[in-house]
Amino acid sequence: MMAANKTLLLLPGDGIGPEVMREARRVIDWMDRHRAVTFDITEDLVGGASNDARGVPLADSTIELAKTSDAVLFGAVGGAKWESLGFDKRPEIAILGLRRELGLFANLRPATVLDPLVDASTLKPEVVRGLDLMIVRESTGGAYFGEPRGIETLPDGSKRGVNTEVYTTAEIERVARVAFELARKRRRRVCSVEKSNVMESGLLWRQTVATLHARDYGDVELVNMYADNCAMQLVRNPRQFDVIVTTNLFGDLLSDLASMLTGSLGMLPSATLGALDSNGRRLALYEPIHGSAPDIAGKGIANPLAQILSFAMLLRYSFDLEAEARMIETAATRVLANGLRTPDVMAPGCAKVSTHVMGEAVLRELDKLAG
Ligand code: NAD
Ligand code: IPM
Ligand code: MN
Repeated sequence: MMAANKTLLLLPGDGIGPEVMREARRVIDWMDRHRAVTFDITEDLVGGASNDARGVPLADSTIELAKTSDAVLFGAVGGAKWESLGFDKRPEIAILGLRRELGLFANLRPATVLDPLVDASTLKPEVVRGLDLMIVRESTGGAYFGEPRGIETLPDGSKRGVNTEVYTTAEIERVARVAFELARKRRRRVCSVEKSNVMESGLLWRQTVATLHARDYGDVELVNMYADNCAMQLVRNPRQFDVIVTTNLFGDLLSDLASMLTGSLGMLPSATLGALDSNGRRLALYEPIHGSAPDIAGKGIANPLAQILSFAMLLRYSFDLEAEARMIETAATRVLANGLRTPDVMAPGCAKVSTHVMGEAVLRELDKLAG
């Protein structure tokens, strides 16, 4: 019997989202043709594009599609056109809503310095060479979703804006577990990051991680760090880190920071995973960590590698296709080693290429790897 096709939902979104998704789609189609894995692909609108077409940034039908697909590949959302809308209409609701509705609580953001790009970082090559760290960002709780929230008018007519940082032990434990499990497959070091010196939610975070560590993960080294120090340490000596586990808001900041260690935001993929259900199935969404990049949208110069590498993560984490994931990562590294660069990672002596040429070059390297 033929293995059932994998169902993929592609959500290109806004700005450079569709531009980089087009190149990832060609890699998906290549895999479909060349390897023992076939996909049934559905595409849908999200973000500003969905708002324009249907009046909502994330339709219920899209959430349903995402829940029933084997994996979701997301592009990027947002743009000036929708910035003045209320929070419920803003494109960003699409990604926040999908994380929340699908229960995708563990956002894995690897920062890897590929050898050919060691000079693309704004940090010195000797600081970032060989860097390979993984940020595990909690992604369905904390200040992003805590209640109460809102803007209220005070009796004197002035206003008050409120967001609430809130974590339960269960929320902390499940994301910490993901970090410890990942560390076991890596260098067995977890750094847990919070602000337990000023925040109760941070103190509970530290205590909960410590309890879990003592109970189940004695073979993994655990270090605690305040978030401000972690930001400094990431710039000072990023290679001290293996796995970093942190809250939604701190993880958002620290992962953008980590991206520049690797040369460009346009290089970093991510995976956002839910819990395993009773059938051993796990909902998951994959996306570059960058946004819709309105400043370069429509110019055909966006770096498609973060999107393409997000598809590699999809193969690895949703379908256990490690060899195929590696092929894509190797192809991307070789393209860079051959001196092809989109403008964000351009270096002297390299050839500046478009989004499409970069995608094409990845396909040609895949052809070579396939023999
Ligand atoms: P951004 O990530 O879109 O862009 C930041 C900078 O990085 C820009 O100069 C941009 O040109 C550059 N950049 C980003 N991706 C690139 C790529 N692939 N290749 C080359 N350069 C790249 O962040 P921003 O400008 O703060 O936000 C723009 C919009 O995107 C906002 O509406 C924001 O809310 C949204 N956003 C969405 C997501 C998402 O969809 N997951 C993530 C972050 C920001
Ligand atoms: C990210 C983005 C999102 C976040 C925005 C677009 C809601 O910045 O994925 O890092 O803050 O989580
Ligand atoms: Mn972010």
